[in-house]
Amino acid sequence: MRASTPANRSPLPPPRIHELSPEEQSVYATLDPERVPQHVAIIMDGNGRWAGKRLLKRFLGHKQGAESVQFVVETASRINLPWLTLYAFSLENNLRRPKSEVSFLMTLLKNYLVGNVKRMNDNNVRMAYIGRTHELPAEVRDTMQWASEETARNTGTTLTLALNYGARSEIVDATRSILTNLIAEAHKRGCSLEDLLQVDGLETHLDEQHITGHLYTANMPDPDLVIRTSGEQRISNFLLWQIAYAEIFVTDRLWPDFRGLHLLEAIAAYQQRERRFGGLGEGTDEHLAGLEPASEVAEEISTELSGQASPVLTRR
Ligand code: FPP
Repeated sequence: MRASTPANRSPLPPPRIHELSPEEQSVYATLDPERVPQHVAIIMDGNGRWAGKRLLKRFLGHKQGAESVQFVVETASRINLPWLTLYAFSLENNLRRPKSEVSFLMTLLKNYLVGNVKRMNDNNVRMAYIGRTHELPAEVRDTMQWASEETARNTGTTLTLALNYGARSEIVDATRSILTNLIAEAHKRGCSLEDLLQVDGLETHLDEQHITGHLYTANMPDPDLVIRTSGEQRISNFLLWQIAYAEIFVTDRLWPDFRGLHLLEAIAAYQQRERRFGGLGEGTDEHLAGLEPASEVAEEISTELSGQASPVLTRR
């Protein structure tokens, strides 16, 4: 399922900083409001360990984790974070966890939605979903649809829950959808797929933009910041395409202990990072304006490789 959200959002309403707790306000005061990320994605991990440490059953960790979700969403909405995406249930969770745990997580999700739609509306939060949600139980899908319809008119944070989600299968689904469209196009033009590609050129029909446009997240900006709780340094098949240039923040805190304050701390750490998107950083001593022309560099490198140059490449 795609997050059903318009590409051109209406402007966000003013932030509600006065509703942050005093602790949150003091972290928020250190932030540059102009550089709050557009999209934060969170891998919520550690529910089982949280429960284990307290000698509780795993499901109580998930229950407490659902409470954290609401705290974090409300802080996100108060600071006007436009997009918050939470990895709530992976394809692998669905396949590899005991049926009883999967069934508990489904009931928890349903109860969470029913119990929190009013708070979502009070906080101007819109609900969306990504993943192979058509494979979820019908009554869960009905509740999901109800929650997204009830919150569809909200203009603040879009909360996207990744459910029965896997990044590789998302890429497979996108590729299948591109192929299906191409076959339909060939059919419309009365030619074979091979002829269509030969006439138009493969690059006309398949480039990065096409793949991006067929992902579940087609209408969303890429995450700027990925947070993972519980100290694991893994991405676990989450938004693999979209996080190509995201900053990653790992905290040892277990998800059921994670609050809005910790979201703000992660954003503060993010603001200390220098994002380079494959280019040169601002702190580099090689500024683009001062670089030699490519032809001169090529000549210099070729002389260097042939062993005729001074030991160090010259720099302007
Ligand atoms: C990881 O904990 C978390 C999950 C498998 C699911 C995330 C679910 C929630 C936060 C609760 C429900 C969410 C919503 C939106 C209602 P884990 O079980 O892998 O923890 P462990 O690694 O410590 O065992």
